[in-house]
Amino acid sequence: MSGVDGRIRSDRASARDREVALLKTVSIGMVVAALAAALLAGCGAPGASRGQAVFNTCVPCHGENGGGIPRLKTPAIAGQPEWYIARQLEHFATDVRGAHPDDMEGHRMRPMARTLYRPGDLAAVAHYVATLPAVPAPHTLALADTANGSMRFNTICVTCHGADAKGNVALGAPKLVGQWDWYLVAQLQKFHSGMRGAHPADTLGAQMRAMSLTLEDSTAIHNVVSYIETLPNH
Ligand code: HEC
Ligand code: HEC
Repeated sequence: MSGVDGRIRSDRASARDREVALLKTVSIGMVVAALAAALLAGCGAPGASRGQAVFNTCVPCHGENGGGIPRLKTPAIAGQPEWYIARQLEHFATDVRGAHPDDMEGHRMRPMARTLYRPGDLAAVAHYVATLPAVPAPHTLALADTANGSMRFNTICVTCHGADAKGNVALGAPKLVGQWDWYLVAQLQKFHSGMRGAHPADTLGAQMRAMSLTLEDSTAIHNVVSYIETLPNH
C-alpha cells in the first residue's frame, strides 16, 4: 500500500487489530478467572446453596447481581425464566449456540456452560439465577423510529413474545423487556446472519431466525428494539 489512502487504510486496520487483540486479552482473562472459580465451586456443599455456589462462577462476567456488563458484552440474566436459562446453558454446552466461528461472545460463554457437567449443577444455577431480582438494564442507545418499531412488533413479534414482551413459556419465547438494548440488537443481528439459530438441533432458534429475517436491515432492527425499550419493565 502506498500514498495517503494506503496509510489511512493501514492505520485503520491496525486500530482494528489492537481492538480485537484487547478484546481477546480481556476474554481470555475472564475465562481463566471464571474457570478457576468453577473449580473452587466444585468443593461447595450440595443442596439449596449449590445454585448460589455455582452462580459465583458467573459473577466475573455477568456481575454480582446478574445484571450483565456492557464492557464484557454480557446480558442481564437475573430474573430470566428458569426454563429459558436452562435451555440456553444446554445449548451453549452442546455447541447448539455460540459455536459459530465468528461468535466471539458465544466463545466466551460456551466453556462456562461446559463446567456445569456435575449432575444437578445446570438445573441448580438456572433455578438460582431465576430467583434473583431482575435488574432492568439502563437504556444506552438513542431511540430510533418507535412508530415503525411498534408496527413491526405488534404484527410479528407479539405472536410469541406477547404484547408486553414478557415472553411465552408455551412457545419458548423469552422475556425481552429489561434486557440491554445493545444486546437485543446484537442477538437480532446474530439470528439474521445465521450466527445463532442455524444449528440443525436448534428448532426454536430456527423459528426466531425466520422472524429476524423480516427485519430487512439494521434500521429495522434498531426501530423494533427502540419500541421494546418503551415498554414497561415490571
Ligand atoms: C467468561 C465470561 C462469562 C462467564 C463466566 C459466564 N458467562 Fe454467560 N454469557 C457470556 C457472554 C459473553 C454471553 C453473551 C453471548 C452472546 O452474545 O450470544 C453470555 C450469555 C449467557 C446467557 C444467555 C442469555 C440470553 O438472554 O440468551 C445465559 C443464560 C448465561 N450467559 C448464563 C451464565 C451462567 C449461569 C453462568 C455461570 C455458570 C455464566 N453465564 C458465566 C459470558 C460469560
Ligand atoms: C414464532 C415465534 C417468535 C416470533 C414471532 C418472534 N420470536 Fe423472538 N424468539 C423466539 C424464541 C423461541 C426465542 C428463543 C430462541 C432460543 O431458544 O435461542 C426468541 C429469542 C429472541 C431474542 C433473543 C433474546 C435473548 O435473551 O437472547 C430476541 C432479541 C428476539 N427473540 C426478538 C424478537 C423480535 C424483535 C421479534 C419480531 C421481529 C421476534 N423476536 C419474533 C420466538 C419468536
